[in-house]
Amino acid sequence: AGSGKFFVGGNWKCNGTKESISKLVSDLNSAKLEPDVDVVVAPPFVYVDLVKNSLTDRIEISAQNSWIGKGGAFTGEIRLKPTFSFLARDFIKHFCLYVSLTISHNVEQLTDIGCKWVILGHSERRHVIGEDDQFIGKKAAYALSQGLGVIACIDAVPSWDNVVIAYEPVWAIGTGKVATPQQAQEVHVAVRDWLKKNVSAEVASKTRIIYGGSVNGGNCAELAKQEDIDGFLVGGASLKGPEFATIVNSVT
Ligand code: G3P
Repeated sequence: AGSGKFFVGGNWKCNGTKESISKLVSDLNSAKLEPDVDVVVAPPFVYVDLVKNSLTDRIEISAQNSWIGKGGAFTGEIRLKPTFSFLARDFIKHFCLYVSLTISHNVEQLTDIGCKWVILGHSERRHVIGEDDQFIGKKAAYALSQGLGVIACIDAVPSWDNVVIAYEPVWAIGTGKVATPQQAQEVHVAVRDWLKKNVSAEVASKTRIIYGGSVNGGNCAELAKQEDIDGFLVGGASLKGPEFATIVNSVT
């Protein structure tokens, strides 16, 4: 693992029922999790409340998406009002970003339901749902309109403390074909170099870069040993509580 605090996110995607999610929550509540790991799960929106009300506070909740602006007549969308966010156009072509939100004094929907994180720019939103750079850019623009920096002015971002970058090779998502530790390490180094050149050496060293794509209880330990892998974003295996706990505990 790298130097940042290990981070493991469980992206439940569009899976689960009240029954299976209650079982998952109960497994997570009884799992023994290494203390020095940030653990976050992203349930489907319709179950966020259920999860928030039954899951241990040890695990934080993420949204899987957010709207491009204020609320209103946008059927099916979820609004947010970040006080801090960041989206890099260069990054969104290749990576998804996990942007931490701080609680705003104007309570908006995501914070109202207890989400502290939101996933933006996931390849499934792009390739399956059809979100393009322009649309994701609008989400970014809304975040930026809240007084934030833009991609061209990265050094204007007030704090990178709550930004986690996920590298997910599309061919590895849900396929059972995991990147080798060397392949993942190589890309993570490239991302870190990008940060170093475009932001600062300090941000490059402290920003967590996590890997996603067919991570499971069997392959996490080898991946976690890599110097620049600071954690994981887990899809399928995050739906099994004990296996997800094994992944959380793979921190080295
Ligand atoms: O966001 C996590 C993800 O896309 C990886 O999914 O099922 O390959 O672990 P999976």
